Order: sequence, then structure tokens, then C-alpha cells
Amino acid sequence: MATLPPGFHALSLPIIQLSLAAVLKCGQSFRWNAYPLKITSPDASLPTHEYRFCLRDRVVCLRQTPTDILYRTVLPDPQPNMTERKLREAETLLWLKDYFQLDVDLALLYEQWGSRDKVFLRIRDRFTGIRMLRQDPWENLISFICSSNNNISRITKMVQSLAKEYSLPLLSIPLPDGSGVEETYYPFPPPSVLAKPGVSTRLRSLGFGYRAEFIHRTAKMLVDTHGTSTRPSQTSEPSELFLHTLRGMATEDARAELLKFVGVGRKVADCVLLMSLDKTDVVPVDTHVHQIAIKHYGMKGSTKGKTSMTPKLYEELCTKFVKVWGDHAGWAHSVLFTSDLKAFALHGLTEPQFTSPSPQKDRKRRIPDEDEMPSLLPTPPRTPFAYNPSPAEHVKKRARMRRTPE
Ligand SMILES: *[C@@H]1O[C@H](CO)[C@@H](O)[C@H](O)[C@H]1NC(C)=O
Ligand SMILES: *[C@@H]1O[C@H](CO)[C@@H](O)[C@H](O)[C@H]1NC(C)=O
Repeated sequence: MATLPPGFHALSLPIIQLSLAAVLKCGQSFRWNAYPLKITSPDASLPTHEYRFCLRDRVVCLRQTPTDILYRTVLPDPQPNMTERKLREAETLLWLKDYFQLDVDLALLYEQWGSRDKVFLRIRDRFTGIRMLRQDPWENLISFICSSNNNISRITKMVQSLAKEYSLPLLSIPLPDGSGVEETYYPFPPPSVLAKPGVSTRLRSLGFGYRAEFIHRTAKMLVDTHGTSTRPSQTSEPSELFLHTLRGMATEDARAELLKFVGVGRKVADCVLLMSLDKTDVVPVDTHVHQIAIKHYGMKGSTKGKTSMTPKLYEELCTKFVKVWGDHAGWAHSVLFTSDLKAFALHGLTEPQFTSPSPQKDRKRRIPDEDEMPSLLPTPPRTPFAYNPSPAEHVKKRARMRRTPE
């Protein structure tokens, strides 16, 4: 990278360790914005997109070259002095290393998965650099409550509208395409805000359906138990700190805590365990994953007609995948899952920019599974309460859902 764009710093990182284009759009986080850059010369060493994410106190902008991640910190006014600014930049770098878990050698994991699994060998060269993000547990929990019976584009709209509705705008900056158009960024709202009266009614009117009440009640449960702080808005609330402590718990105990929340069944809990609570071997399972296991991994079962997902079958599938992939089974699963998304049907097949893709030829090389339902997303409400511990709650939820057929 000869010259850096203004305000950016470079972090040396090959694309086999991290592909922003894949990782930020494959259904892990729903709050990254991707903007195409204005390309003036055909040069594969130049970034094609800028990705932006709004934290509580700053916006982080990223671009990727074959050798580097370029990062920039944007702070709200008033702009701090140089000393302060350097501190903030150092924090952003620490955040990046933590959020992308850069201490984990992904190339080594791909090698291990490839040597253990022929199915993985078939996809690994097209789907490089897909690693698990280490998300904020609170945002991750609420996002995956939204994800029940839902698809990526609609979950993205919901999560972004949640931020816009319940957070003050942090700052506005121009789009990176040189058009001069400004975009405003909103942080994810804290638990105390979503616990307030009226939230579920408002979210319903914004199209959240039955998830509106799940979100409100989960927030209220956290705030009632852990309280709210009077500290400045940048610092985490006690409820958020509590969710962070689940990282230090055994998987079973952390899962039991998550299952207490409203709208959280086994699958949502497992997504949160994997995506924000460091439980690398947890594989979120549904009937779709079951089908993959039957077709490619020698699990017994019928590929015709749906088998209902029981707790016993769920356990069997998890055990199976841990046996195949090892202690980062959840990470491997996310690569397979991404390869299965419709939006990624041509991923890794097209040439770099300025050559036109040939969809006709590409289509033949698509990998076999083309189901619409992404496997990391929770199962539709046919089965979502199979793991609910309390029968009374189970009945109440059913009643609520009947009122709002989705
Ligand atoms: C820079 O700003 C910080 C925080 O506002 C302040 O504590 C510090 O004294 C300032 N330093 C200089 C050199 O002005
Ligand atoms: C996602 O779901 C919405 C609402 O059910 C639907 O209108 C939309 O077409 C779906 N999008 C995709 C890409 O499947």
C-alpha cells in the first residue's frame, strides 16, 4: 500500500486471515454498512469498498487491500487534541484485534478442517477469510432475538431501525464515494432504553411483529435484575457487564442463563454463545443443518420431509460436528453456512473488478445446497419453543404468536 487515504492507518493482514466482504455480510452482525468506493484505475491492490460500524462513542471505517486492513476512527465533535486523538486511535486498534479475534490463526484452522473433512476441502478456496466475530453480547442477543423466522436483509433493517429509533445520532460524515452525500450513524441502544414502557408497542408499529415484546421483556428482565447506572452513556450498563461475565462461565451455565430470556430458545442461545461469548465449539443447529449432516456427513435420517428437531437430535448433531471439526467447530460451521447463502452464490468465482463475470459458466460451479433458509438463523416458529424450560411460558408465548401470525 503506497499511500494511505487521509485519516487511515494500516494493519498488515492477508485476506486468508480475514475477508471483510464475506465476514461482515454473512449473518453474524447486522449493523455494518458497506459502501462502494469510486474506482478511478483498474488496480487489484486498491480497496473496492469501505465498511462502517458505529460504536457507542465513535464510527470505525475499514477498507481492505490484499495485504492490509486500513482503519480510521471518526469521533463526534468537539474534536479532541492530538494527545487524546492518539489514545482513541490506539483503542480502535485494540477493538479491531478483539472484535476480529486476530490472535486466532485462521489459515491454520482452515488447514486442520480441510485435513479432517472432504466437504470443507471443496469450499475452502472460494470462501477464504471467514472467521467468527467477537461481538458485543447485548447487541448480539437482541439481534438474534430479531432473527427468529427471518432473513438477513430483514434482520438488518430491523436492527438498524432499532438503533435509529432508540439512540441519539452520534455523528454525520460524507459517504466515501465522493458524492458529498452525508450519512448519520446511530449506536446500538443500551438495555435501559429498550426496557422503558411503550417500547414493544413502538417496535410492533415498526414491523418487528412478535419479536417486539421479546426484545422489550428481555431488556426489562436484565435491567430489573442488574439495575441501571447513572454513569455517562459511553460506559457499559450493569446488564451489559453481566452478559460479558458469561464469557467466563462454562458453556452449559452460560446457555442456561441465556435460556431464561424471552424469545431465546436453544438455537438463539447457541448463536450468542458462539458469536459473542467465546464458545468456539458450539454449533447452532436446525433442520437445515440436519439435512446437511445427512447428505454430507453420514448422519442417519431421511432427506425427504422434515424431521422435527428434538433436544436429543440437536445434541447428536452438535456432537457429530465437534467430532468432525474439533474445538472450533462453530467457526467451521459458519464457513459452510456462508457458502450456502444465496447472496454468496457467486462469491470467489468472479474475477477482480473490471472484468465482467460470466454467470452462465459460474452457475455450473455452484456448490450443491441452495436452500433459502440460512442455517445460522433460528428455525421458524414451528419449533422454536422446543427447548423452553417453563411450560407456562411456553403456552403464553404460543398465545402471543397466534395473535400475530407472521
Ligand atoms: C488534551 O485533551 C485532554 C482531554 O480533554 C486534556 O486532559 C489534556 O490536557 C489535553 N492536552 C493538551 C496538550 O492540550
Ligand atoms: C425476507 O423476508 C421478507 C419478509 O418476510 C420478504 O419480503 C423478503 O422478500 C425476504 N427477502 C429475501 C432476500 O428472502
